[in-house]
This record gives sequence, structure tokens and C-alpha cells, in this order.
Amino acid sequence: MASIPDQSFFHLSDLHLPDRAGGLSYDVDALGQLRRVVAMARAADARPTCVIVSGDLSDAGGPESYVLFREVVLPELEAFNVPVLYGLGNHDRRAPFRKAVLGEAGADEEAQYYYKRVVGDLHVFMLDSKVTGKVSGALGPAQRAWLAAELERTPHGQALIVLHHSVTLWGIANVEEDQLADSRELAEILAPHAVLGVLGGHLHFSVVGAFAGSVSITAPGVVNQWDPTCAGMRVYSQPGFNLCTVRAGRLLINPIVLDVSRPQG
Ligand SMILES: [Fe+2]
Ligand SMILES: [Fe+2]
Repeated sequence: MASIPDQSFFHLSDLHLPDRAGGLSYDVDALGQLRRVVAMARAADARPTCVIVSGDLSDAGGPESYVLFREVVLPELEAFNVPVLYGLGNHDRRAPFRKAVLGEAGADEEAQYYYKRVVGDLHVFMLDSKVTGKVSGALGPAQRAWLAAELERTPHGQALIVLHHSVTLWGIANVEEDQLADSRELAEILAPHAVLGVLGGHLHFSVVGAFAGSVSITAPGVVNQWDPTCAGMRVYSQPGFNLCTVRAGRLLINPIVLDVSRPQG
């Protein structure tokens, strides 16, 4: 088995950008939350090999929010001077994203946005689990077939799977319907390939679970945190992200949640 070099990268999720700088999502300055996360990541000792953003880039899917992403957020993330890989979530809309960020005219809202990017020895699969009109997610047969074929060409132990929705249950009854609908089919695809891990978001809190002989973990929300200790969906305004590290061929994750109630400086 080929071994993957030790490295670190950042995993951000759920930016929920408004249509303009200073706009509110979940009653907080979403761009300000992103900037707090970027400042924390920049101050870290880790030098990342890439930055991953796993969807809900926008809060309402409006065209202006993707202009904000392209013109303000992307430059801040690209200042790490490493590849920035981004995918879409249930709050996103593909057509305005494709137009504003990818420069595609006449984009099809139903054309899923998924791809594989090789970063050094890390083979990152950015999947699209958005289902139009639903909070829950699914990959669908075409994307699953593409993933299965691509994994056959990917060295064992070097594939990282990224999607917006969680692939595992997380113990809160009133949000378990948000799970990925075809997670069992995904597990069957991944099981033979010894993937490094499966990164998700959507929940705005971290949940870790065994999945397909590997590990799945969701990232804290950039925009806020939901409280996983109760079914009432309490929300807290701390921003967060995951510091991800590969050591000796294993993926290690440190969920980071910033306490912004402390004085800055
Ligand atoms: Fe979200
Ligand atoms: Fe979401």
C-alpha cells in the first residue's frame, strides 16, 4: 500500500453567506464569523496543504451571496496559497453558484457539482449531496457510479471523501431525517478502498462515527453551532472549523470552536 505523507489541512463548513458584507444569517454577521475562523487558522502552527469548504456557502442561494463568496471570501481563503476546494449544500443553488463563481452562463440548476482534485498525494472527492427542495441529502446513482469508477483509479489510503450531509446518524431524533438518503450505498462503494475519512457538515456541530471501515466526521459550523445535547435546536454564535491532520497514514481531526465572547486582542 502506498503511504500518504504527513500533512495538515483545514475543513470549513456552513458559511451561510448573506447577500452583502455585514448581512446577518442566524442573527450573526456571517462574513465576520468566517473572518474569525480564517484568523484562527492563519495563527495556527499548521501549514495547510489545502482548504476544504463543504457547502452551505450561501444562506439563501441568492446570486449576490456567490459574488460575495467569489470577491471577498475566496481571496481570504486563497491567501493560504494552497488549493481551495468547495462544494455545495442544501442552502446553495447551483445555477447562481456556477454563474458567479465558475463563470458558467446558462447553468443548469439540476447539474450536480462534483469533482476529484489531487492535492499532492491527497485525492479529494468533493461530492454534491444537495437535493433540490429538500433539507436532506442524496448523491444519486450517476454520482455514485462516477465515484466508484474514480476510486478504482485512486491509491488505497489516499482518498478523502467530502460532502455536505452527514453519512451517519447522530442521536438527535428531530434532525435524523437530514441524513444522507443513500449512505448505505455510499458505504458499499467506499468499504473496499480504505479511504482516509468522510468529511461532512450541515449539522453545525461535530459528530464522529465509524463508516465503511473508516471514520466520518462533520465540522462545526462557521456561522454558528447547534447544540447536540438537546432536541430543541438551541443555537450558539461561536464560529468553528476542523483542523485535519494526516499522520502515519491516518486522519486525525481537531474540531475547533472559538469563544468570541472573550475580549479580542
Ligand atoms: Fe448549514
Ligand atoms: Fe445544510
